[in-house]
Amino acid sequence: MIRLDKYLADMSQGTRSQIKEAARKGRILVNGQVEKKSDRKIDPDSDQVVFDGQLIGFVEMEYYLLNKPQGVISATEDRRQTTVLDLIEDRQRKDLFPVGRLDIDTEGLLLITNDGGLAHRLLSPKKHVDKVYYARIEGKLPIDCGKRFEEGLTLEDGTDLKPARLEIIRESSEDAEIRLTIREGKFHQVKRMFEAVGCQVVYLKRLSMGPLTLDDSLKPGEYRTLTQEEIIQLKER
Ligand code: URA
Repeated sequence: MIRLDKYLADMSQGTRSQIKEAARKGRILVNGQVEKKSDRKIDPDSDQVVFDGQLIGFVEMEYYLLNKPQGVISATEDRRQTTVLDLIEDRQRKDLFPVGRLDIDTEGLLLITNDGGLAHRLLSPKKHVDKVYYARIEGKLPIDCGKRFEEGLTLEDGTDLKPARLEIIRESSEDAEIRLTIREGKFHQVKRMFEAVGCQVVYLKRLSMGPLTLDDSLKPGEYRTLTQEEIIQLKER
């Protein structure tokens, strides 16, 4: 059971005080009857809530896979810049957040949910969730780059990194295209790893995170809900 004001606030219908006021004015119906008490208990499985003539269903958890475009920030709200949440137009819950962060100029897979327990487990360094990135690099990759990444690099500020796997797709004396698998998510980690070996990341895209993979059908800025199978796979980790 859940209070009527929380039910509607969770479903992004306003603040609790706005909902209290709306209830007082008779704008809310529960099972076809005007309900003026916003602290009344609702059973989300059986009660029907109508707000300003619109049926408001209750969704407890939402899971979206976004192909984050460049120029959008990994935050929940911002007065000046577009956030990843602004892109999820179908969202119903007001408490969604991105699981981890991608830099403003990084593209690719970002999970958006309100499942705090799942997010915590996915981000925990102990869980070793693989994250795979595609990058275009400027500069010549040192011959021992893969080995250094595999042994666990130490960044310039002394941060020790866990082993990472480098796959070179194409390389020349000036640039390269690579895939990199890392198991942690330190601030600007991929960019700083290549800086540590004298190169620069000029394009970065996350391809996968644990069992979630970006499909080609999702263009930057597009998103889809996770399938039941993907949710189960994530929870089984
Ligand atoms: N590593 C980075 O440097 N940037 C990102 O956005 C993600 C990983």
